[in-house]
Amino acid sequence: MKVAFDKHRDIWGPLFTAHIRNWAETVFRPADVMIANGQLSQEEWGDAPIPVEPVGGTSFSEKGIRLHKLRQLPADYERVRYFDFAAAEYEMGVHEYKAYIIKHAFPVLERYLMPGSRVMDCACGPGYEAIALSMMVAESEVVAVDLSTEMIRLACHNAKEHGRHNMSFYQADARNLPGALKNKFDAVYCQLSCSYFDDLSRVATCMFDALHNSGFVFLTEPYPTTPNSLSINFAKAANPWFERLYDKEELQAIFTDAGFKKYYWKEILPGIGLSIISKQ
Ligand SMILES: C[S@@+](CC[C@H](N)C(=O)[O-])C[C@H]1O[C@@H](n2cnc3c(N)ncnc32)[C@H](O)[C@@H]1O
Repeated sequence: MKVAFDKHRDIWGPLFTAHIRNWAETVFRPADVMIANGQLSQEEWGDAPIPVEPVGGTSFSEKGIRLHKLRQLPADYERVRYFDFAAAEYEMGVHEYKAYIIKHAFPVLERYLMPGSRVMDCACGPGYEAIALSMMVAESEVVAVDLSTEMIRLACHNAKEHGRHNMSFYQADARNLPGALKNKFDAVYCQLSCSYFDDLSRVATCMFDALHNSGFVFLTEPYPTTPNSLSINFAKAANPWFERLYDKEELQAIFTDAGFKKYYWKEILPGIGLSIISKQ
């Protein structure tokens, strides 16, 4: 079968992936050593919310791992089409970059996530963070959500390959989450995805609705430093649906408007911020 040449998918996509891989080697790798040696300060902003007892639950995964596919794709499904094309390449290309993010974000999350916490990974991509989270919440479960048909299929496949049981997979739009996911979660994790949402306010409201009264949102996102702002030219060339970067003040305003009460931010790696946002 002939496939039409696409400059975003076939030229810029692989170049962006190579750029990300290079970034892991040349920026995150030395930063990782410097953080361990106390040679790199990590800025913090706001007061860290206080952890709360989880509500938990296992009802999504009690019949085993399932993939719930969308019956009708949104009219603008085109927005995630490049993630369908590039799911496998993305999975391989960003592995090391994300390994550093997990290494520096997850120890902070451990303060908030208990074995009984139920977590949603919103826009889970190939599912590695969702799988790692499912190990942290071994007495409860993780529901992984992504709109891209290929990404959610890959995430579900990866969870089975890793022998996970306490997970469930929903192909769903983060701007319009299914009713079944409302008021069910102790935490929502969302990584490297806000830049691809065209309406982050709507996503923030959906996250608010997905959480119990005392839940948390964790966002792990690049913010607009000079190198990141230059890199987004690459990101936009690889995927024209890349929207923009957000700084911590903007994220705080968007999530406060959605009803969240507290916002805390920490730079976990150069140019990468972890936001912890709480409902109470
Ligand atoms: C850069 S990837 C990040 C994936 C994963 N969180 C990670 O860190 O590797 C962005 C993901 O957002 C998903 N996405 C974009 N818009 C979405 C939407 N409206 N609803 C759900 N997922 C969406 C894409 O399909 C893609 O898997």
